[in-house]
Amino acid sequence: MTPSDHYAVFGHPISHSKSPRIHQLFARQLNDDIVYTAQDVRPECFEVAVRTFRAGGGKGLNCTVPLKEAAFRRADELSDRARLSGAVNTLMWRDEHLFGDNTDGVGLLRDLTLNLGLSLEDRRILILGAGGAARGILGPILEQRPEEVVIANRTLSRARELARRFASLGTITAVGFDQLEAKPFDLILNATAAGLKGEIPPLPDGLVATGGCCYDLMYGDQPTLFVRWGRAQGAKLSTDGLGMLVEQAAEAYLIWRGRRPDTRPVIALLRQGGQPRQTERKC
Ligand code: ATR
Repeated sequence: MTPSDHYAVFGHPISHSKSPRIHQLFARQLNDDIVYTAQDVRPECFEVAVRTFRAGGGKGLNCTVPLKEAAFRRADELSDRARLSGAVNTLMWRDEHLFGDNTDGVGLLRDLTLNLGLSLEDRRILILGAGGAARGILGPILEQRPEEVVIANRTLSRARELARRFASLGTITAVGFDQLEAKPFDLILNATAAGLKGEIPPLPDGLVATGGCCYDLMYGDQPTLFVRWGRAQGAKLSTDGLGMLVEQAAEAYLIWRGRRPDTRPVIALLRQGGQPRQTERKC
């Protein structure tokens, strides 16, 4: 009997990862025989864990927080989008050559445009946060030619650095949270890690345009604080990042196995019993 192809997600912490379930659902849908596991790997153990996984016949890896930069450094070859974002979330061996890609940005974009039907062209977009998550989504967002992207971050210098890095791709401004005018945005994306500590960035009222949307790159079994903030601010749509998670996983699956799973039934299944996809404004 041929052994199943083995994939894994490395991260720390990892116990709550939904990736094994998502990839098992993809494999079932496409009649593929794969094993996908989650491994708790600290950054200092990354190199050894990668080598051990490969020695055991592993085919490809996903890397999540805090390993995306280490995966970027480890890859022998990078896709253009991985190089631009400075982070890798998908690794694949081509013989012994390790190819690194980043599917986060395209995953977000597919969720926003295909699943939620939003257009980013000529829109005013606010990105909260200037860490790895923000860097991973900026390129694909700017490709959609929004009118303007404002990056707001607690540490202004990091927002400025990010704005400089992507300046050639569109109109980007960097501000601190205290400099955020209550100028309305069509889309506000939360790419901060504040939710992990049960916080949201300090935001003034009036930031959400009429018909505007809020999107949290994080997700949880309950609506996140930011999703609730968006709802309270009257957003037409305020949703978490579960759709992005499934879409970035489908892109990784495509890279590894050459076939793209249908994401909609998987998103619907993961939503079952959890919060509804969107919180519509009542007025
Ligand atoms: P990730 O890869 O998840 O983006 P990161 O690179 O450590 O992780 O970045 C975390 C982001 O969340 C940063 O923008 C950080 O702000 P600073 O650059 O000022 O550190 C932001 N962040 C974390 N905790 C926050 C909080 N309590 N309030 C606001 N922003 C926060």
